[in-house]
Amino acid sequence: MTSNSPDQTTTIVIFGASGDLTRRKLIPSLCSLFGKGKLGPEVRIVGMARGNLTDQEFRDSLVEGMDAFEEFNPTTDEWKEFVSRISYYCGDVTSSDDMKGLEDTLLAVETHGKPANRLYYLALAPSLYGTAILNLGESGMARQVDCWRRLVVEKPFGTDLRSAQELNQLVHSVFAEEQVFRIDHYLGKETVQNLMVFRFANTIFEPIWNRNYIDNVQITVSETVTVSDRAGYYDQAGVFRDMFQNHLLQLLTVVAMEPPSNFQADLLRNEKVKVLNAVRRLLPESARQVAVHAQYNGYLDEPNVPAGSDTPTYAAIRLNVDNWRWQGVPFYLRSGKALGEKRTEIAIQFQKPPHMMFHQEIGPNVLAIQVQPDEGLHLEFQAKSPDGKMELRPVDLEFHYDDSFGGRAIPDAYERLLLDALSGDASLFTRSDEIEEAWEIIDPIIQGLGVSSAPPPDGYAIGSNGPAAINQLLSNDGRQWLRLHGRSQNLSHGNDS
Ligand code: BG6
Repeated sequence: MTSNSPDQTTTIVIFGASGDLTRRKLIPSLCSLFGKGKLGPEVRIVGMARGNLTDQEFRDSLVEGMDAFEEFNPTTDEWKEFVSRISYYCGDVTSSDDMKGLEDTLLAVETHGKPANRLYYLALAPSLYGTAILNLGESGMARQVDCWRRLVVEKPFGTDLRSAQELNQLVHSVFAEEQVFRIDHYLGKETVQNLMVFRFANTIFEPIWNRNYIDNVQITVSETVTVSDRAGYYDQAGVFRDMFQNHLLQLLTVVAMEPPSNFQADLLRNEKVKVLNAVRRLLPESARQVAVHAQYNGYLDEPNVPAGSDTPTYAAIRLNVDNWRWQGVPFYLRSGKALGEKRTEIAIQFQKPPHMMFHQEIGPNVLAIQVQPDEGLHLEFQAKSPDGKMELRPVDLEFHYDDSFGGRAIPDAYERLLLDALSGDASLFTRSDEIEEAWEIIDPIIQGLGVSSAPPPDGYAIGSNGPAAINQLLSNDGRQWLRLHGRSQNLSHGNDS
């Protein structure tokens, strides 16, 4: 029996429970789901880490972590009830004895009641994934007899194509693919899911969603945060591994995919894989023609950044999707840290009218999907200025989640994804072949830009719009970056660097 059934309870086991992810994302999301009655009344959460803590000390450490959440109040009955479900097991995932000890502890708790499903969440350093998974296998914890066993794996999944293939093989030696949920939290964002609804539940956009009407697509993930205390991980990863191989390519697939026949995990993921498969492969030697990378000034002074590191914290790339729908439409992707604005936006720039009968230079129509913040859509088109000659001006038709859904809060992506993993819906998780295709696209770019004979990344000022060199990438194609569309922004076009 591997589906959810009313006589089963669920245990969520978090490996790496003393880490930041557990406090910042997993516990707040689980608490919110619990409060909404979505976890089931008998859910248990067991955190495992190496620190020697009692259950109460572990719970207290979670309370400290949640202080950052304005709405969090540890005196509510809801929190007290939720936190009473949490316990702690001190152990090391690399020790098979500790893993067996965990299994015995879980069985002892679970057999008092009803048979229990288990969701194993790897919130660990990625270097520990392999050993943890093997130990789960060896201690019999992956076996599904009466109940299901599922594994959630955080990104990064591998550091290149080869390591991702090896990790996939290792995962599959213990878990079947249907048991595996690889997280890309961008897919849990409401606006990303809404993009599928927008495209496939409306008839008015799909006919123009192709090379006949679209000139180019621009995907921007701009962050204000610096690397600060994450350099231990980030300096090894850099922006291509941290953001492009996963989040930006996932956004691209949702823009470019064909409609699946049903909103069902494998059908959806088949379509996304086809897009990734159609992305033109590059040779490392040509990386410099399609990619720009840079590092913010001051990165080298961040704690734990090795002297002289040339890890990029910003990049922009041009990709082409070689299929009937997208031939000739470039996809420009850019992302960086320490920038002036936190904003994720997908902008679809339409072609100019084939003939201009009004004697005025005008910008093209743009559909901008605000992934975050101020989630919504902007459709920019030309209108006549009133009371005068034939003078055109761009205006903006806007939809904001806040306005249209009565201010209903948008849940954190982790809330949606945890619930989906618990209910066995893998639609918003990355399948093994998707991960590998994405590495195949990104690997040659990293290799090409990183060769020792190549010039180091450019610099850019903290709080700026990134390096000036990104304009060249588009101007070489006779195009410009579009301005990002905040609520009620000035609509003039032009470079924003
Ligand atoms: C994570 C990256 O996956 O996504 C971080 O590791 C990045 O470096 C974060 O800051 C961005 O997520 P969001 O949801 O804030 O856009």
